[in-house]
Amino acid sequence: MAPGTHHGFATVSTDTGHNSNSTDLAWALGNEEMRIDWGWRALHGSVVLAKKLVGAYYEKEADHSYYSGCSTGGRQGLRELQQFPDSFDGALIGAPAWDPTLMNSYVTQVGLYNLPVEDPRHVEKDMLEVVAAEALRQCDGLDGVQDNIISAPGDCKVDLTALSCDRPDIVKDKCLTEPQIETMNKLYEDYRSPTGEFVWTGYEPGSEIQWSTVIGSDKPSAFGYGFQRYFVYDDPEWQWQDYNFSVLEDTVKKDPGQSRAAKYDLSDFKGRGGKILLYHGMADGLVPTRASALYYDRVTDAMGGPPTDFFRYFPVPGMQHCASSAVSAPWHFAAAFQASVMGNDTWSVPGFKDAHHDILLALVDWVEKDTPVDSVIATTWNTANDSSTGVLRQRPVCPFPQQAVYDGKGNVDEAASWQCREEGASSRLGLPSGLVVGVIVVITSLMLWA
Ligand SMILES: *[C@@H]1O[C@H](CO)[C@@H](O)[C@H](O)[C@H]1NC(C)=O
Ligand SMILES: *[C@@H]1O[C@H](CO)[C@@H](O)[C@H](O)[C@H]1NC(C)=O
Ligand SMILES: *[C@@H]1O[C@H](CO)[C@@H](O)[C@H](O)[C@H]1NC(C)=O
Ligand SMILES: *[C@@H]1O[C@H](CO)[C@@H](O)[C@H](O)[C@H]1NC(C)=O
Repeated sequence: MAPGTHHGFATVSTDTGHNSNSTDLAWALGNEEMRIDWGWRALHGSVVLAKKLVGAYYEKEADHSYYSGCSTGGRQGLRELQQFPDSFDGALIGAPAWDPTLMNSYVTQVGLYNLPVEDPRHVEKDMLEVVAAEALRQCDGLDGVQDNIISAPGDCKVDLTALSCDRPDIVKDKCLTEPQIETMNKLYEDYRSPTGEFVWTGYEPGSEIQWSTVIGSDKPSAFGYGFQRYFVYDDPEWQWQDYNFSVLEDTVKKDPGQSRAAKYDLSDFKGRGGKILLYHGMADGLVPTRASALYYDRVTDAMGGPPTDFFRYFPVPGMQHCASSAVSAPWHFAAAFQASVMGNDTWSVPGFKDAHHDILLALVDWVEKDTPVDSVIATTWNTANDSSTGVLRQRPVCPFPQQAVYDGKGNVDEAASWQCREEGASSRLGLPSGLVVGVIVVITSLMLWA
């Protein structure tokens, strides 16, 4: 919440009605009312209450209201603006786990790809670094610049036979057997039903380091089977070994807590002048990056064309789940809880507290000054979480379908050497600008998706 107050916002957050760590889902057992609080109701109630408090304290209603959240926080923001389009004028939505019924089923399925540990297909976590290095070797250059950052993961089909233990030149404790290669390939692929229908997106090349949570230990991640136990079947003894596609179907049918943010026609939010900035790290190994592209695509379809006049999607090369990078990619643009990675007293982007570098300020300008967000410059430092060590790299992140294109001559670590280039023309709505007096931002910074 603290960064919002530094900008002069009145800020509110909520625990959504329960108190637990993020892998302990037992609070939900047999309690659909608490699940609904988590699914959407606590957030909505907090927004309504916060607006009342601001109105009473300042004796004047807030002129504008904003949302900033990532992961489950991203889902919560989408869920709120879908059902209550008047809640926010602008919403900053990060890496949303926007359909928990599919996402939490998928997590258990991914765990099962890699289990049991005695099975020849099982891959140990320490191999993920080896797989990541191979993906980087194969994919980095495809975007035109060798910089350790995979910026066009969609163009790369990783061929892991390069790590095959059958190769004579391979280092024996850094190789994959044929069944292990199949396991890793499954994580790149989309999740499909037994009859081949698309269900949920898999992971991008470059996200491998962060797969350590979803590939599980001697059991799948509790984010998955905890959901099945405490949200779907109300059975603390439910065994992850019993997961199959029928479990996913039961989950979708029950929709525990009404948490799915799966509405694609956003006409009501758009109609009242609302703006959305969606961002997602391309190296996210928790919530798959392609899930955000999928949501954006479906909105494009539902609204009869690219929604760029009120909704823009920024994929962020090299960024992991909501923040940070394993490949020194620029990742900090003052989105939800990014400042807290830098320490307790940090807010906005240290040294660059302006709308070119701070995406929340860019969103405010879009809402209040009618200046659409054409790019945001991301930053990283020599020690990634310590700005006193000096800037290492800056680079613009661009709204889909644009991407940052290198000018071929400047320093690749400087933002001025890159340009957002668009393939198609984007249309823009001229909306009237408003006055700034008292504003409110809701920041919900739940780290994961439970
Ligand atoms: C989360 O809470 C559960 C139940 O109290 C506990 O077993 C588990 O160790 C906790 N996990 C972490 C990471 O603190
Ligand atoms: C899943 O397992 C249950 C219980 O064994 C079974 O009844 C069901 O047919 C299975 N579903 C699929 C899709 O395999
Ligand atoms: C950066 O992260 C490291 C490791 O978590 C930690 O020890 C250090 O205190 C952090 N630095 C800042 C400025 O927060
Ligand atoms: C940040 O604040 C928390 C809570 O007061 C404290 O436990 C933690 O040590 C602080 N971290 C740093 C890096 O100062």
